[in-house]
Amino acid sequence: MLKTVETQLSKTFLSKEEMASVFRRALKAKNLISREDTAVLFYDLDFLSERILNLKSLFPKTTFHAIAVKANPLVRILEYIKTLDVGLEVASLPELYLAQKAGFPSEKIAFDSPAKTREELEYALKAGVWLNADSFAELDRIGEILEKTQSKSRIGVRLNPQVGMGNIKITSVSDAFSKFGIPMNEHRRKIKEYFFKYEWLKGVHVHVGSQGCPVYLLLEGIKKAFDFVNEINEAFESRSLEKRIEVFDIGGGLPVSYDVSFKPVLMDEYHNLLREKMPALFSDDFQMITEFGRYIHANTGWAASRVEYVKREKDYNIIMTHLGADMLLRVCYNPDDWHHQFSVVDKDGNLKKGEDKFSYSIAGPLCFAGDILARDIELPYVEEGDFIIIHDIGAYTLSMWSRYNSRQIPKIIGYHGSEVDFEILKKRESEQDLIDFWT
Ligand code: LLP
Repeated sequence: MLKTVETQLSKTFLSKEEMASVFRRALKAKNLISREDTAVLFYDLDFLSERILNLKSLFPKTTFHAIAVKANPLVRILEYIKTLDVGLEVASLPELYLAQKAGFPSEKIAFDSPAKTREELEYALKAGVWLNADSFAELDRIGEILEKTQSKSRIGVRLNPQVGMGNIKITSVSDAFSKFGIPMNEHRRKIKEYFFKYEWLKGVHVHVGSQGCPVYLLLEGIKKAFDFVNEINEAFESRSLEKRIEVFDIGGGLPVSYDVSFKPVLMDEYHNLLREKMPALFSDDFQMITEFGRYIHANTGWAASRVEYVKREKDYNIIMTHLGADMLLRVCYNPDDWHHQFSVVDKDGNLKKGEDKFSYSIAGPLCFAGDILARDIELPYVEEGDFIIIHDIGAYTLSMWSRYNSRQIPKIIGYHGSEVDFEILKKRESEQDLIDFWT
């Protein structure tokens, strides 16, 4: 059921008290969590709608908000997002199928990807989704298909504004070298020519990077591409042509905080900066697209993972638990860049506060040494049967699930703020599902 919520954000994070209280209720709920649920994921659906409604309330009504499916592809979540009357950004044909399965019509789907095949392009053009080409070669393929096929798709091209790298190398895509988009510095003339060559090419797409890209860098990249768009539009005008670039896609990338002591830039602020730097982008001359993922989802999800053992040694203590690099790949492989916060609840879901703190490392269940979620962090006394609550796992965690060691994907539960009702968004994977996967 969709609740009416304020478009203002009521909070930036879910507090540990809130998560513990929901978990307590979930443990008590009938037939919800059983012994086999060694870990469970939770999503606060009210918090998710708050983020989306807040986004919608800030940008012009005509803006097409395409929420990035890769951040959280659960169909039940996509269906929920659909009730909020926004669209989806998909980065592969299977993601497009997921969007369709969740009931999104073509005009509510934007398709990005640097490796679309001819068949995928044909499918997308026939369906009439928004399409962002990633290269000149892809534009030419689209051109060939459109000679033979009718399409309602609106088509743009992704530019790499080459404004440099953010703080996290592997999620930065606007350095001089990037596998995405057409590098602007080298190809200004040819990009212009393509806009003259293809009548149907009416949009520009730019996505500077995800997490680790500071807001000034996002703004710089968007502004550089937007100035170029205005330059091309002036060239059309000076030749008395009707055509203009009318769609501008700013991508996603607004970073979130994974630590309550660091205040993130909120969407209100980001929107104000965009408007201040590029007022014309907010005029009726442009149809804007946004593609936020992490900002929408990250802080709305959390996980509870049961403590199976605690290894207590003279110099260290290790908590052995049930989620590791299978769900938090980034944290294990790139611990310098990625961190989550953790809380501890007892077997009944009561938050452990304890004045005394102990040093622990938190290990996952996988068979490799790097399967460590945190090293030497301070927690209250932890014992077998407790649960570790992993904060802020709403984006790019479940979607990056690794099949290494074939652990089952846990049960996923949705809830609405403080209401009693829980909804199983996805059942725990069964042994048979697992066997089927590898068969
Ligand atoms: N649009 C495009 C074209 C993108 O490539 C992305 C993210 C987004 C939008 C959404 O960006 P967001 O608002 O979520 O930052 N596997 C990674 C995440 C990579 C994000 C890739 N693209 C991770 O380790 O977290």
